[in-house]
Amino acid sequence: MLRIGMLTSGGDCQALNAAMRGVVKGVCTKRSDVEIYGFEDGYKGLIYGNFRMLTAKDFSGILTRGGTILGTSRQPFKQMRIPDKDGLDKVAAMKHTYHKLSLDCLVILGGNGTHKTANLLREEGLNVVTLPKTIDNDLWGTDMTFGFQSAVDIATDTIDRIHTTATSHSRVFIIEVMGHKVGHVTLHAGIAGGADVILLPEIPYDINVITDVIQKRAVEGKPFTIIAVAEGAISKEDAKLKKKAYKEKLAKRKYPSIAYELAEQIRKKTEKEVRITVPGHTQRGGSPCAYDRVIATRVGAAAAELILNQEYGYMIGLKNDQTMKIPLQEVAGKLKMVDPEAGIIKEARMIGISFGDK
Ligand code: F6P
Repeated sequence: MLRIGMLTSGGDCQALNAAMRGVVKGVCTKRSDVEIYGFEDGYKGLIYGNFRMLTAKDFSGILTRGGTILGTSRQPFKQMRIPDKDGLDKVAAMKHTYHKLSLDCLVILGGNGTHKTANLLREEGLNVVTLPKTIDNDLWGTDMTFGFQSAVDIATDTIDRIHTTATSHSRVFIIEVMGHKVGHVTLHAGIAGGADVILLPEIPYDINVITDVIQKRAVEGKPFTIIAVAEGAISKEDAKLKKKAYKEKLAKRKYPSIAYELAEQIRKKTEKEVRITVPGHTQRGGSPCAYDRVIATRVGAAAAELILNQEYGYMIGLKNDQTMKIPLQEVAGKLKMVDPEAGIIKEARMIGISFGDK
C-alpha cells in the first residue's frame, strides 16, 4: 500500500487543484494500491489530524477549478516551534499524525513560508515532496510557479479596462498589483497592459520622476497616465531606512496602501485627477489560465514520478521548460526577486516605460 498525505498551504492561487490532479493521476496510473489522505486547511489539518480519505475520482473534473479542494490557511513558519494556545507542540503533532497514519510521504503545495515548514519536516525525518504554488513567482529554484500567469492575466485585464476610461477622462490611474515583497506580477502585467510607469519593490522610486513623466506626457498630448504599482513598492527615501524603522513607518502610514499614498502625492504635485484601482484578491481567484493548467499538470506528474521512485526531500520546479527536482534545503528561506538589471527591465526602458527611478 502506498499512503500519500496531501495539503495546500498559504494563500491560495489558481491551478492548485490542477497540480494535485496531476500528482494523483500520475501515481494512480501506475499503481492501484494507493491511499490518499487530504489534510484540511494546510498544516492545520496535519497538526490537528483533520483529513479526508480521497480517491482518484475526487481529483477528476477539477483541472479548471480555482481555489483548493482541500482548503488552506496561513500557519507562519515563525510560530511552528511555538506551542498552540493549549500547549500543543505543533511539530511533534505533525510527526505524530504522519506516523499514526503510516504515511509514505507528504505532498505539500505552497509558497515561501510553506517551503520553510516543509524543509523543517524533512529535517525531522518525514518524506516530503513539494510543488511551487504562488501568484508571486518568488520561489527560489524555479523559473515559474503556477498561479503566476493567471494572476498576470487578471491584472493585465484590469489595466486594459482602466486604459480606456483613463483615456476618456484624461486622468492619472494607479493600479495596485499583488506580489507581496516582489514585483514579478506587476512587471509582467504592467508591460502587457502598456503601463507608462511601473513601480517595483526592487527598484525604489522618486516621486519627482513619476510626476515628471506625467507632465511630459501631457506636453506631448497624452493627458492620461497609467501607473502599475506593486503593493510592496518603496520610495528611494524609504529604501534607505533600516528594516525595523521602515516597518514602524508603514504601521503608522495614514493610507490603506501604497497606491493611496502615491495618489495624494501626485495630486498635490500635478493637480491632475488621480484614481486608484486595487484588483486585490481577484488576482488569485477563478479558473487557472491554460499555461498554469499545463505547468501545474507537469509538476504534478513529475512529483508522482518522485513518489513512485521513493525520492523525497525535493521541490519540483521548472528550469528552461524542463521539470527539475530541487533539494528543499536550497529552496527554503530564499526569495526570487526581480533583477533590476534583467533583460526584461532593459527592454521595457527601451520603449520608454519609466520605473520611477531616473
Ligand atoms: O502570496 C500571495 C499573496 O496574494 C500576495 O501577493 C499578497 O501580498 C498576499 O498573498 C495577500 O495575503 P492574504 O490572502 O493573506 O491577504
